[in-house]
Amino acid sequence: MKQRYYITTPIYYVNGAPHLGHAYTSTAADVMARFKRLDGYDVFFLTGTDEHGQKVESAARAAGIDPQTFTDQVAADFIDMAKRMNISNDDFIRTTEPRHKRACQALWLRLVASGAIYLGKYEGWYAVRDEAFYDEDELIIAADGSKKAPSGAPVEWVIEPSYFFKLSKFQEPLLAFYEENPGFIAPPAKRNEILNFVRGGLNDLSVSRTSFTWGVPVPGDPDHVMYVWLDALTNYLTATGYPDAVGARTDFWPANIHLVGKEIIRFHAVYWPAFLMAAGLPLPSRVYSHGWWTVEGEKMSKSLGNFIDVRPLIEEFGLDPVRFFLLREVPFGGDGDFSRKALISRLNVELANDLGNLGQRTLSFIAKNAGAAVPPLGRLAEADETMLQSAAVLPDKVRDALDRLAFNEALEEIWRLVRNANAYIDHQAPWALKKTDPKRMATVLRVLLESIRSVGILLQPFMPETMAKLLDQLGIAAEDRDWAALAAPMTAGAALPAPFGIFPRYVEVAA
Ligand code: MSP
Repeated sequence: MKQRYYITTPIYYVNGAPHLGHAYTSTAADVMARFKRLDGYDVFFLTGTDEHGQKVESAARAAGIDPQTFTDQVAADFIDMAKRMNISNDDFIRTTEPRHKRACQALWLRLVASGAIYLGKYEGWYAVRDEAFYDEDELIIAADGSKKAPSGAPVEWVIEPSYFFKLSKFQEPLLAFYEENPGFIAPPAKRNEILNFVRGGLNDLSVSRTSFTWGVPVPGDPDHVMYVWLDALTNYLTATGYPDAVGARTDFWPANIHLVGKEIIRFHAVYWPAFLMAAGLPLPSRVYSHGWWTVEGEKMSKSLGNFIDVRPLIEEFGLDPVRFFLLREVPFGGDGDFSRKALISRLNVELANDLGNLGQRTLSFIAKNAGAAVPPLGRLAEADETMLQSAAVLPDKVRDALDRLAFNEALEEIWRLVRNANAYIDHQAPWALKKTDPKRMATVLRVLLESIRSVGILLQPFMPETMAKLLDQLGIAAEDRDWAALAAPMTAGAALPAPFGIFPRYVEVAA
């Protein structure tokens, strides 16, 4: 039986349109999901939208529409973005769906039954933008003297009846869990941040609100709606069919990995495991926090109006160059800057020059000079052995990097082979061998084809559309494109279709 792999993105707030930040998490998760499928896993990849809470309710009010109609519209836009980015999610969860309300209420009742929830009164700070409660000592003083959340979000003083979750009781169990599962929080810097936070002591957490109604009603007390983060985190269970014990996806819980942006690690690495412990449910294996993008050096913000929608970028540069750029430019976990200049440079240098050229010159040479078929492999020279050997060890290197979410390292490994193959073709000069040693020419071309095939197969998770085109040109059948297929060589004599370029150079047109 295939091993299971369950990966999630955060579910995105529908208070505003999808942007580069959302596209980033989704693309990273998509690469992992595609990689695991090609590596023989049974994958469940979940994304979706977080549609309740005060922030979404006020965005709907500002738009002059009722919250359900509003969330329907914005959720449709997120679904559209996922399609345009070629995100291969197996499900798209919306927290306003009945299945989700049912899951939230079932989890709530389980928390009540375990004695983890009690009724009290919340009096303290709340930041609607973060949908988060803050202690006085966490606040910062802004330039204008006002108190702000650590994220810079405005805070308001809230006094209302509230149910509480006994988070304080979970300090020790959480610390023991982090100790026993050192890989639970990644990267390591984030792990330290969370350890320090938990070691500092945990207050009980307010988990219901009474000052608005846009949420999942608390079972038995409909004056309260559930705190949006308890509601939102439960999505990861809902999609597996919770609370049903049997079903198509119940075996996918616990998740292998939750991908999250760095600003929401605390919810996933502290609150979520505590809720699950209290409910007696298994904990996910890993929460991985990635960094944030700025745009042309500036933070994306409403006031600057510089939110980047990836869809116009896809129109202009093509989808796969955008996907490639997002994972190539910045080590996952760190922050990065998006700029047109950097995107164009990656596209022209690494995609068009390095990879595009390698494919194009090899394939068009074979089409013209080697009978448009896979050439036979003759006696191997040392340079050939070296090339074939580096192609043979590449899948393990890429697998190792991807298992660490080191997307840029995986790409660097692949590009090392691409550059070596370009150097090899220059050095071996098949155009000269054509007259002097046609057998040797065939061997050189075959070594190149095998290398390009490895690159094409291993790059599929990153650039599925373009790599499909490349593999078509190599005559590789659909069922021979997974990682296991790399072990067998190509078939000499197999006919190759007419080649065409896959990455046109981008030439900036003067405005
Ligand atoms: N709804 C919550 C998550 C609930 S999960 C149970 C939420 N939503 S969000 O719409 O704000 O999206 C958060 C995600 O978008 C972040 O985790 C991060 O992945 C991504 N990003 C938003 N802005 C970003 C950048 N500027 N750069 C990179 N990613 C960022 O939080």
